[in-house]
Amino acid sequence: MTERWTPQSWRAKPAKHIPSDYPDAGAVTRVEDELRRMPPLVFAGEARRLKSLLGNVADGKAFLLQGGDCAESFKEFSADNIRDTFRLILQMAVVLTFAGGKPVVKVGRIAGQFAKPRSEPIETIDGVTLPSYRGDNINAMEFEATGRAPDPERLLKAYGQSSSTLNLLRAFAGGGYADLYNIHRWTLGFVADSPQGARYKELAEKISESLTFMAAIGVTPDTHPEMHRVEFFTSHEALLLGYEEAMTRVDSTSGDWYDTSAHMLWIGERTRQLDGAHVHFMKGVKNPIGVKVGPTLEGDDLLRLIDVLNPANEPGRLTLIGRFGAEKIADRLPRLMEATKKSGRSVVWSTDPMHGNTLKANNGYKTRPFDRILAEVRAFVEIAGAEGVHPGGVHLEMTGQNVTECTGGARAVLEGDLADRYHTHCDPRLNGEQALELSFLVAEKLRALRSEDLRAAS
Ligand code: PEP
Ligand code: CO
Repeated sequence: MTERWTPQSWRAKPAKHIPSDYPDAGAVTRVEDELRRMPPLVFAGEARRLKSLLGNVADGKAFLLQGGDCAESFKEFSADNIRDTFRLILQMAVVLTFAGGKPVVKVGRIAGQFAKPRSEPIETIDGVTLPSYRGDNINAMEFEATGRAPDPERLLKAYGQSSSTLNLLRAFAGGGYADLYNIHRWTLGFVADSPQGARYKELAEKISESLTFMAAIGVTPDTHPEMHRVEFFTSHEALLLGYEEAMTRVDSTSGDWYDTSAHMLWIGERTRQLDGAHVHFMKGVKNPIGVKVGPTLEGDDLLRLIDVLNPANEPGRLTLIGRFGAEKIADRLPRLMEATKKSGRSVVWSTDPMHGNTLKANNGYKTRPFDRILAEVRAFVEIAGAEGVHPGGVHLEMTGQNVTECTGGARAVLEGDLADRYHTHCDPRLNGEQALELSFLVAEKLRALRSEDLRAAS
């Protein structure tokens, strides 16, 4: 017997990590009603387009690059920040496209990535206990009683910020900023400045040669206006279901429900219970969706989850985002990949090398060592190769800003440097240089795979 799905029907299910302690429940309902009247942020047709591109990834013909802040914040909101994240994703995409010989689908963790599941519901400092910070769309980061109480007005502010972020992203993507030649020029600057630059020079020179060749045969942004533009999509964790419900609308073309808060939504590691509210909500919307897959998940449970979320086995509908940690991935991932491969489930396999590699530095800062992040990505590509599965993508927490939140990288951020520019509202992010460096190192790995493929085919 199938129960009837509606955007509200999740409310009858057990829901984790959704605040239930709003001082005035009536105010929450009023805000949700107001959100229901707001224009959609994305169109169903765009979500379908992303699904079809992700279908190519599932078929091994493309690669997914997904990244952005762990948590967007009201304080860090600025045009420069948005531009820098966007630019970083484009730079990384050029490097990965060239190395992998496949198109890269670009998805930001942006324009809606606010709400956070927290390990502890409360926080105690100097004997004072307050609710934990849960994201700027719920409460304030400052450790102070009024600010830590959930406030529904924050949902409206987050909607407004998402809307203007998306507006700027659309302008950048379509208005000439994304010109391929510019992007490459910026990346050359990084290569010249990086202490490890010599290592990346060869790849950067090959990209330059290809662009020169293309120009010589008449393929330039002037003759091919699509070289001025990119397709760029948005995503966030669909955690706060009241907000997602309010943004869910019927698409007049297909008659299907779409969550119009972002093109792609994902279910986090802590809310993927088969009978829980988050899985229930997501099975009813037709967007492309993701699920975080961590070290406690077994193959059978994964297949059950896939059957609920993608019963038609539609390519591009479901992205599995592995987040095991560099030490656990070799033990956990092979059997899960084997399960999806053997049973013929069409999924995108992506890797989040951030969330399994978080540790506390001696000085108390939450950080992630660059080497461990890189080790998990490399292991992911190798395991996928051994299992005959396409290593479809990476999911990163990163910023275009020059922060000091993750240790290591070519310019070696040390534990003692963490305090210098530690700005994240939640988890530590790769800074612009670390993220670009990671893409060069992953590119080397992808190129090696590609030469093996070419050799095997000849
Ligand atoms: C996140 O992506 O910020 C997050 C909370 O991840 P996970 O659900 O994998 O823990
Ligand atoms: Co995070």
